[in-house]
Amino acid sequence: MKIIRCKDYDEMSAIAGKLMVDQVKQKPDSILGLATGSTPIGMYKKMIEAYQNGEVSFKDVHTFNLDEYYKIEKTNDQSYYYFMNENLFSHIDIDKNNIDIPNGQADDYQAECERYEKAMADSAGIDIQVLGVGVNGHIGFNEPEENLYEKTHLTALTQSTIEANSRFFASIDLVPTSALTMGMGSIMKAKKILVLISGKSKHDVVTKILGDRMTTQTPVTLLKGHQDVTVIIDDEAYNG
Ligand code: GLP
Repeated sequence: MKIIRCKDYDEMSAIAGKLMVDQVKQKPDSILGLATGSTPIGMYKKMIEAYQNGEVSFKDVHTFNLDEYYKIEKTNDQSYYYFMNENLFSHIDIDKNNIDIPNGQADDYQAECERYEKAMADSAGIDIQVLGVGVNGHIGFNEPEENLYEKTHLTALTQSTIEANSRFFASIDLVPTSALTMGMGSIMKAKKILVLISGKSKHDVVTKILGDRMTTQTPVTLLKGHQDVTVIIDDEAYNG
């Protein structure tokens, strides 16, 4: 794992934004794996700025998102579909047909998981997968468990994730209790992985990433088995 330490959220976002823009400049038809949560928002702002400055075009880029709540309507302002439009897609020149996100309103979740996994398999493969990390070490919605799933699947959210994500909802009762998420195998197939970690609440997770163990109880530690992972960590997350 390559660890990049930085001062704060803004510096993390600037470094990550540049890595993503450089990726697209080098390979205009890149396949980007994208994430939601508060962590990548600053990085998306940098990507939007680079597009607005004429530095980069996203018109040939394809994207796959990590996860989506289940069930949730696309029009719900807490859906990840809505989030991606608000925070990135509606501000850049991406072709809307090139965007794929697990469909949180599909009636048949199994068919949707199979469709999503096949869409990724039929593509040329994700060039770079962006990840935030939950306070319990989850990535996507692969929550700490004895056994993790390989492929895209329906999962129940842990109480700690429901509580952490309730800050975005009017009340905790409105937080969906399930989600569709890429599995660990889907994530590990990405050619490169970029993990963003900011803030004190992630310090325990950082300690585990920097340690010498890999455990399904802290899913992000399994990324140690991938050969091209960059983790950007700000001072608050590093020092606690
Ligand atoms: C959610 C998402 C994850 C994200 C995590 C952390 O649970 N499914 O992909 O990494 O939250 O969110 P934040 O970046 O807001 O701390």
